[in-house]
Amino acid sequence: MGILNTNTRYLNENINEYAKELLSTFPDKLSVVHFVNSGSEANELAIRMIKANTGQKDMIAIEIGYHGNSNECIDISSYKFDSKGGTGAPAYTHIVPLPDTYRGLYTGENTGADYAKHVQEQIDNIQAKGRNIGGFICESIVSCGGQVELPKDYLKIVYEAVRQAGGLCLSDEVQVGFGRVGSHFWGFQLHDVIPDIVTVGKPIGNGHPLAAVICTQEVANGFANGMEYFNTFGGNPVSSAIGREVLRVIKDENLQENALTIGNYLKEGLRKLQQDFPIIGDVRGQGLFLGIELVDENKKPLPEKASYLANRMKDFAILMSVDGKDNNVLKIKPPIVFSQENADELLSRLQTIFNEDYMTH
Ligand SMILES: Cc1ncc(COP(=O)(O)O)c(C=O)c1O
Repeated sequence: MGILNTNTRYLNENINEYAKELLSTFPDKLSVVHFVNSGSEANELAIRMIKANTGQKDMIAIEIGYHGNSNECIDISSYKFDSKGGTGAPAYTHIVPLPDTYRGLYTGENTGADYAKHVQEQIDNIQAKGRNIGGFICESIVSCGGQVELPKDYLKIVYEAVRQAGGLCLSDEVQVGFGRVGSHFWGFQLHDVIPDIVTVGKPIGNGHPLAAVICTQEVANGFANGMEYFNTFGGNPVSSAIGREVLRVIKDENLQENALTIGNYLKEGLRKLQQDFPIIGDVRGQGLFLGIELVDENKKPLPEKASYLANRMKDFAILMSVDGKDNNVLKIKPPIVFSQENADELLSRLQTIFNEDYMTH
């Protein structure tokens, strides 16, 4: 900041270099990036791109999904409009069931097609109104929904149906991106699909407000209709320098590999805890994007126990939070530098609390 910061009207090498470096982490088809300042702004821009490309404004989104705080983002965030203070889905938003294979509408393996058919149903509903789908938005692991992993083939089938109808597929990687899922750099790669648009944010600047929208050349061309895109701060020289440094550190310090190794270690430890404490109904997630769901012997959610656990962990200076449709899932998404020692401490504190009277009765 001491050397130079300008708005983005002035050309600077950092933005070019950063764009190249960021795009090199994506499949070749995702070849254009627009920089913004927050995840909300990224999704907001992505929705504008969808509207410009398809001429449609109907969106399909997931139950309990959260995509940001702006008007358009709130309008596709069931997490907000279906909760306290909300008034349900707006006319152009169509919600499909959370594909939760543990306690959702369909449980167990091979439920991808069952859940995907609800998307087709919504496409049919939209078309029956004489309109058409603009886009489909989904996280690769649904975070606010309770760290819900999508069933196998779900995204593949959904993407095909959406594209068949002329819609665009948007992957919200604001939480899951940048190597956190361990086996891949981006969450959508877990599902062997390539979205038309990807939004990224949160860890991208390691605390500095920065986010981005990555799309195909085709989508970018459809958006470049002459109106021009301008953003005072998105992609400014300082943000770009910070973004480059974050990418460099993730690479140089093998942080994706760390997420995989420590994530697997932690997940194994949680599974061991589950054997001793059946209140842990499910352990799920990938890399350092995990969750544990607390239920009784009839799979009834236990939100009070989850809240107690999160609060007691605070006494040990460990911050966790509770989420999911029934507020009974503890989210575990520590900094990607999390070590084995940190994981051991987390597991040992969890064990202590699971043994407490309140948790066992
Ligand atoms: C999945 C997801 N998308 C988008 C956003 C919005 O990002 P921001 O808070 O940076 O605007 C969030 C923030 O929590 C998020 O979790």
